Amino acid sequence: MEAALYDPTAGFFARGRGPADRGDFVTSPETGSLFGALVARALDREWVRLERPDRFTVVEAGAGDGRLAREILRAGPECGAALELVLVERSPAARAAQAGRLPAGAPVRSLEDLPVEPVIGVILANELLDNLVFGIAEATGNGWAEVRVGLEADRVVEVLDDLAPSDRALLPSVEDVATGARLPIVRGAVEWIARAGNLLAAGSLLLVDYAAPARTLATRGGWLRTYSGHRRGNDPYSTPGVHDITTDVPLEPVRAAIAAAGLDLVGESTQAEWLTGLGIAELVEAGRRIWEAGAARGDLEAIAGRSRAVEASVLTDPGGLGGFMVIEARRRRSRGDG
Ligand SMILES: C[S@@+](CC[C@H](N)C(=O)[O-])C[C@H]1O[C@@H](n2cnc3c(N)ncnc32)[C@H](O)[C@@H]1O
Repeated sequence: MEAALYDPTAGFFARGRGPADRGDFVTSPETGSLFGALVARALDREWVRLERPDRFTVVEAGAGDGRLAREILRAGPECGAALELVLVERSPAARAAQAGRLPAGAPVRSLEDLPVEPVIGVILANELLDNLVFGIAEATGNGWAEVRVGLEADRVVEVLDDLAPSDRALLPSVEDVATGARLPIVRGAVEWIARAGNLLAAGSLLLVDYAAPARTLATRGGWLRTYSGHRRGNDPYSTPGVHDITTDVPLEPVRAAIAAAGLDLVGESTQAEWLTGLGIAELVEAGRRIWEAGAARGDLEAIAGRSRAVEASVLTDPGGLGGFMVIEARRRRSRGDG
């Protein structure tokens, strides 16, 4: 999976696919400006909670082509004068695309990996965890096994192997699922949360992804998905580097990683609920009024105002982006507080 997505020359993201070319899947920031305007409200809320620090750092991990950062800035948040945005993006193609999206002189730094200095602010990741490298576990009569790939007469085949003892903590008890059930072993996501949590001196971690309890994923299946050209693929082993490979994220190992990083889990809601709490209806109504005032002129601002209603319905659709989970965790006031 690491090579299929991130190999420097042949990997899906390194080849400039995904959000950098907008051809393979649609994420919330790509639906328009509404999502960024609401994330800007969430950032303001956190800045106020932290008592308006002079320097407020927002690390956006898996920032893609910088679209969300652009919309956050465009929304003109109250924390703007204190705001420093750090866009962390592994794909060089996506990083290159950021420059063209962001206004010249904007308080933005672009990095390939998480910064090293402690962060006072928010570490934010929209649809990152589902793209971090995961393994596949299968429930057998003898406990969990790991599904690995092997070659048989030039064909990729699956081979069951022992599960490393350290990976057991990332899975539920094997007795809780049917024999043959499979689950993702989300090692990459858990490692990333540990690193991000460790950076956060004060403030919040905000994760948005498709996530569900592990037992739900084991029963329902279908959690491993590939995408190419806006279409779902089937076989993750075919044509590596040509499609995106993602997983629905099991909630329990994410919660455990948050707790292990010394953060408090303060919210788990669907994206629809979260955006409602941030006032999506009010922004849609304001857009309608802008449209009505400018409709006769048909100017761009009026059209953008009207399109907010469509964006809102996509962002809150319970069967689509609205069903994503927003997971919020917070560093206690000071690391000394216990
Ligand atoms: C599904 S895309 C989401 C992009 C963007 N957040 C959005 O919502 O449109 C995931 C992005 O995470 C990037 N990525 C994967 N692993 C990463 C890592 N360890 N650090 C930073 N970015 C990473 C990928 O290159 C890709 O651009």
